[in-house]
Amino acid sequence: MIFSQTKKLNNGVEIPMLGLGVFLMPEQGVTLEAVRYALRVGYRHLDTASIYENEGEVGEGIKQSGVLREEIFLTTKLWNDDMRKGRAEAAFEESLKRLGTDYVDLYLLHWPVAGKFIESWKVLESLYKQKRIRAIGVSNFHKHHMEALLKEAEIVPAVNQIERHPLLSQKELIEYCTHQGIAVEAYSPLGSTGAPILSEETVVELARKYDRTPAQIVLKWNIEQGVIVIPKSTHKERILSNGQLDFMLRGEDIKMLDALNENKRIMADPENFNF
Ligand code: A2P
Repeated sequence: MIFSQTKKLNNGVEIPMLGLGVFLMPEQGVTLEAVRYALRVGYRHLDTASIYENEGEVGEGIKQSGVLREEIFLTTKLWNDDMRKGRAEAAFEESLKRLGTDYVDLYLLHWPVAGKFIESWKVLESLYKQKRIRAIGVSNFHKHHMEALLKEAEIVPAVNQIERHPLLSQKELIEYCTHQGIAVEAYSPLGSTGAPILSEETVVELARKYDRTPAQIVLKWNIEQGVIVIPKSTHKERILSNGQLDFMLRGEDIKMLDALNENKRIMADPENFNF
């Protein structure tokens, strides 16, 4: 079962290779329903962030699902303004409160906020040492952000969560992270709103060849390369089918997907973001 397939992080904590992402689920009740349903069909990994403004519904969904908290891998993220204001610890406590839990499995610096990410990392290290967080990591870090962080860090990040899909395969960054023992998570794996990746001709052809959905092909492309993946959906049939990944892609087909790379970003560039 894909839901029990995990990867061991650099501190020994196991993270499920597939999780449910809940970015852009703003309407009331939508996240709650998606989380409850995902947990019901077997998902055990949820990825939210304080800026998504749905931590409360994620927490409520966990509670209503009846699945034990310790069976769920829960990620949230420290928002940029909280780093700028030096309120990392307060923001963490607020996230916990909204999530209705007393720990998170993974806490990430959401973006590499210039002049602030190193001091914020120190706060994460301290919370980690206090066992309030099972693993700490970063998101949207390029290699040079990572190098700057590693110079000052006592604890190597367990994860770097980055935009990744066949048009932005991030091969070099993944190789760098892997070499440092840092696991990579792919966000916007389907290309975010409208899922543009799913209409790429090669993806559609492979879906036909394997008798799978285009989304299943793209998700499997990540997992078979050791990349953790967190597709978002609010539709039950998609949440379900995105978890039906009991097939293997052939090496040559993985290469065909790799060849689609255009270094094309759909989301903001960490080099130059204005939020
Ligand atoms: P929806 O929430 O309406 O299902 P990403 O994970 O790359 O951010 O992509 C999420 C986008 O892809 C959302 O717009 C989501 O829409 C859509 N999506 C998720 N799963 C599927 C699927 N299996 N088939 C088609 N679209 C999907």
